[in-house]
Amino acid sequence: MASTEEFERIEISAPIAGVVERAVMEERIVAQIDTLGTLPDIVAEIMRLADDPDTTAAQLEAVISREPVIAGRLFKLANSPFFSRGGTVSTLPQAIRKLGFGTIKNLVLAASAGGVLGTQLGAYDYLESGLWDHSIGVALTGRSIAKGLDLQGTVIDEVFLAGLLHDIGKLVLDPFLRDSYDGSFRLTTEHEQAAVALDHTHVGSRVAEKWNLPAHTTEVISAHHDPAQAPKFPRHAGVVNLCDYFISRERLGRPDGSDDEMVIPSSTLTCLGLQESDVADLGARVSEDLEAVSAFQGMAA
Ligand SMILES: [Fe+2]
Ligand SMILES: [Fe+2]
Repeated sequence: MASTEEFERIEISAPIAGVVERAVMEERIVAQIDTLGTLPDIVAEIMRLADDPDTTAAQLEAVISREPVIAGRLFKLANSPFFSRGGTVSTLPQAIRKLGFGTIKNLVLAASAGGVLGTQLGAYDYLESGLWDHSIGVALTGRSIAKGLDLQGTVIDEVFLAGLLHDIGKLVLDPFLRDSYDGSFRLTTEHEQAAVALDHTHVGSRVAEKWNLPAHTTEVISAHHDPAQAPKFPRHAGVVNLCDYFISRERLGRPDGSDDEMVIPSSTLTCLGLQESDVADLGARVSEDLEAVSAFQGMAA
């Protein structure tokens, strides 16, 4: 048997200590995910119904009317200046007819996520509801840039969902970072790593797994800072990364003057088949999407 003296001489090497520290921290952080709450059941149900070609407007209406808070937000959006062109709506069937299944699905997702993403953060440099404004901005520009790049069908809605949730890991990490950071400057993944050995891309993908979100959402959240890390869905991740750049450049949800110099990684250009000059052209479209973002502002609970 080893003597006490021998035990005392055993030292844990720095790399192993780092691995242990990361594992312990990850356990604590993952436990924190449960306090976030979940996306309401309506999200999975609406995603399934809206993707099924046999779904009727009456089925969609039945599901949405079971969630009065979501239905209320949907009305507010449908009647906002951006969506109400062509007249206001006063009933759910009218809203469904006017907006179409695809838009309704995205609005229900946004109306559901708004309750979670509206939380005020302390360690990150967002204004009140700033993470919500940033997230809906990336989702909406993601949708239109995916269309502009000729990505088809479901990819457009998938990019919307991933854009909406790409930074959800920040919500989980925020309480763990407040001792180290006070929200006075933009935190990078390196800052997060230095403080808690994990970053929001990894933690966000754990949230998506816990919420049973589709595989493309989990992968894009994990790889949204570098699409080279997205083996199955690099183009989804490329669009979200590009839109993260555009919306950060607009400082949406962030205080003026915050240092926000994001750089587009070369993997984004490669996976989308873009040149530097294409980025400027795509960026010029963003101002139209910002009009849509204003319809969602103030919607976060
Ligand atoms: Fe991020
Ligand atoms: Fe972001």
